[in-house]
Amino acid sequence: MSFPQRRLRRLRRTPTLRRLVAETRLSVDDLIAPLFVREGIDEPHPIESIPGVVQHTVPSLVAEVEALVALGVPGVILFGVPEAKDERGSGAWDPDGIVQVALRELRDRVGDLVVLMADLCLDEYTSHGHCGLLTDDGDVDNDGTLELYGEVALAQAEAGADIVAPSGMMDGEVLAIREALDDDGFEQVAIMAYAAKYASALYGPFRDAVDVTIAGGGDRKGYQQDPANVRESLEEIRLDLGEGADIVMVKPALAYLDVIARARPEVDVPLAAYHVSGEYAMVKAAAERGWIDGHAVAMEHLTSIRRSGADMILTYFAREAAEVLNG
Ligand code: PBG
Repeated sequence: MSFPQRRLRRLRRTPTLRRLVAETRLSVDDLIAPLFVREGIDEPHPIESIPGVVQHTVPSLVAEVEALVALGVPGVILFGVPEAKDERGSGAWDPDGIVQVALRELRDRVGDLVVLMADLCLDEYTSHGHCGLLTDDGDVDNDGTLELYGEVALAQAEAGADIVAPSGMMDGEVLAIREALDDDGFEQVAIMAYAAKYASALYGPFRDAVDVTIAGGGDRKGYQQDPANVRESLEEIRLDLGEGADIVMVKPALAYLDVIARARPEVDVPLAAYHVSGEYAMVKAAAERGWIDGHAVAMEHLTSIRRSGADMILTYFAREAAEVLNG
């Protein structure tokens, strides 16, 4: 007796067949654009290591967000570059700090059309470049930092953020921020926790974008996760959910697709992934040399991140991908 040969290629024959059987769909609705806004500049400044991305002025930021809205991108996340940094990172919670100024302007101009998110951390604002306060012996002080994170959350909420996104990897940060927000009447402001955030070398270009150098050639291995661990991520995610996170994130994305895939069945809230600056820069650099087709690789990366289980993707490709998806 002979069996018919299994022919999987039948369903790959035409573009419409492939479209019909696609298991994963990438949509403009899945995209969040990270944007940088810098205090005290009159013109946008290109960021060499994140080609096509700039440090915005407030007006150029508004124009960029309007363009993203026109493309249908539903979310943006803001990072600030202050004119002056200090030990405590006070620009992060100053009501006139650059992100707060930008949020107010965006809230007025496009606030109903796009979800306004703010990265909640101190590293862009501290002279030493760490994500928290330093103790006298140079350690990052977990609990002292939590108080300041509460202040930052309030400043961002008052300025109009829909979502605050703590990225400092301090223990207890989600709870501290939730309590600070609720105590001041901001129950409606949501928290997207950078829950499983690794101490990755892929953040290099981002640090150029926000002019951060970690003092003394230091690193963040004392608070961000070790790339060797995956079960620890599940514990981080569970803790953040228990503290009140509304959305949890895995970061970076591509080298951590296993983390996303492991997190997915454990998590019934939206799961985000951050395709970070180094992931973007590698694609751009190889494409510039003609070694790969940059647009195709970008779409393949984003589709793979969705396939692994992420609902939404923070990506510097947001605008480019939205243009492709809108045809
Ligand atoms: C911390 C923060 C970082 C990134 C997002 N939030 C840098 C870090 O942890 O060192 C990196 C994002 C990227 O590389 O695109 N505020």
